Amino acid sequence: MKRLWIETVGCQMNVLDSELVVAALRREGWALAGTQAEADAVFYNTCSVRQHAEDKIYSALGRVRLEKEKRPDLIVGVLGCMAQKDQALVRARAPWVDLVVGPGQLHQVPRLVAAIQAGAGPQLEVSFDRKGKSRDEIARSFESYDPDRDPGMRPTPFQAFVRTQTGCDKFCAFCVVPHVRGPEQARAPETILAEATKLVAEGCREITLIGQTVNSYRWADGGRTHRLADLLALLDGVAGLDRIKFVTNYPRDMTPDLIAAVRDLPKVCHYLHVPAQHGSDDVLLRMKRGYTIGEYMEMLARVREELPHAAVTSDFIVGFCGETDAEFQTTLDLVRTAGFKNSFIFKYSPRPGTKAFDRLPDDVPDDVKKARNQALLEAQAEVSLAGNLAFVGTRQQVLVEGLSTRDEKKGVQPGPDGVAQLTGRTMCDRIVVFDAPVRLVGRLVDIDITSAGAWSLAGIVADGLADAVPLDAVRVHSIAPLTKPSTPAGV
Ligand code: SAH
Ligand code: F3S
Repeated sequence: MKRLWIETVGCQMNVLDSELVVAALRREGWALAGTQAEADAVFYNTCSVRQHAEDKIYSALGRVRLEKEKRPDLIVGVLGCMAQKDQALVRARAPWVDLVVGPGQLHQVPRLVAAIQAGAGPQLEVSFDRKGKSRDEIARSFESYDPDRDPGMRPTPFQAFVRTQTGCDKFCAFCVVPHVRGPEQARAPETILAEATKLVAEGCREITLIGQTVNSYRWADGGRTHRLADLLALLDGVAGLDRIKFVTNYPRDMTPDLIAAVRDLPKVCHYLHVPAQHGSDDVLLRMKRGYTIGEYMEMLARVREELPHAAVTSDFIVGFCGETDAEFQTTLDLVRTAGFKNSFIFKYSPRPGTKAFDRLPDDVPDDVKKARNQALLEAQAEVSLAGNLAFVGTRQQVLVEGLSTRDEKKGVQPGPDGVAQLTGRTMCDRIVVFDAPVRLVGRLVDIDITSAGAWSLAGIVADGLADAVPLDAVRVHSIAPLTKPSTPAGV
């Protein structure tokens, strides 16, 4: 039996893609390796959103080279966004790589691996670039790859990602995603429903719909257009499913029907990741984000009106081309006043192929980017703490996800009835830490919140637990995922 080691960096799309690649190779008789040293193939599923993510992969490739020299049969693969972006350049920089496969070609991995094993030499499969062909031709070259699932590769056995669409057509000036993940292409509602139903039958209780701009979802069918709100209504009807989340939202597509669906459908979490990216109209214009800060605030006001308890989160870029102190101040003011539950903050990283790279100088010095990054993090931490403190003294329903990082780091392995420090999330995506029997992993429990920090809440299991939760719902295979994304790209 051949063994595979796969490392995944980047966003949830990559986590899902790795799950699918593993599922496909398992059907060909492959298994997951326990360590990289005993693997017959080492794959990196890569991210191109920032330079740093690429640098990390190239240095990992440098390390695996020594292994490849010792064992020439080892198959080294580079999958995903960096494969699509760099293409033949990957092998120019690291000639010991055998396999380069873009995100739109992952369905070919088993065939390409077999070809390498048969002695056909290095294999490269990528989709068309976004110039020089018709949109249809380009779209067709990014092939859907969603039917295979592998429970062992999920973040937990009871949580799964389901893709609503691939690609992105927004072309924000800083962003490489439309170039490496191709044109936006939706999946049919019935396909998504069938996948969710199957996942629930396998023990999933929470589904997170993922798309680069998930709320731009559109599927035209017999004169009717299905939007994300319709999809949520469809999934809300799946028996056995407890929670539905969706990421990432594009501010302009936060339509009233979607906000109403979140308000009215009981399984849909009141958690909205809607990146603002910046607080200044001038910078948003340079970023080609397609809205003003006034429009963003109007959207936020509608969300707060209809969903007063919803957690809204954002992404921000600091040090974008030409960002002045005064412009940065507008982002700082936005973070101080908008009440985001948390924000992911990134230093601008110029990406070849994007409009900003071609037309705008990367002129904010790195130490200024660092200082702005730090100032924004501190501002957000204060806001996050104030938001979390408001939960102390309340009772929250939590989906228990597993051991807390404290116990995971210590390698604590409690017996089936042992108590450990566990972690879970509320309907608003707040992390809660509490002591409880490990058999509660994968279940919904009520927790009385006793204290709060900027990043998490702590509490105790509420009374009446034994009556409230059916015991037959327990299904714990493994608490820790087999591979973890090392750094989330944005969400
Ligand atoms: N819609 C996608 C966005 C992917 S990129 C999603 O699913 O989240 C995630 C975040 O990375 C973006 O929201 C943006 O804040 C940040 N980002 C994108 N390109 C960047 C760049 N060139 N430099 C720094 N940060 C960037
Ligand atoms: Fe799309 Fe990237 Fe903008 S994924 S919405 S181009 S941030």
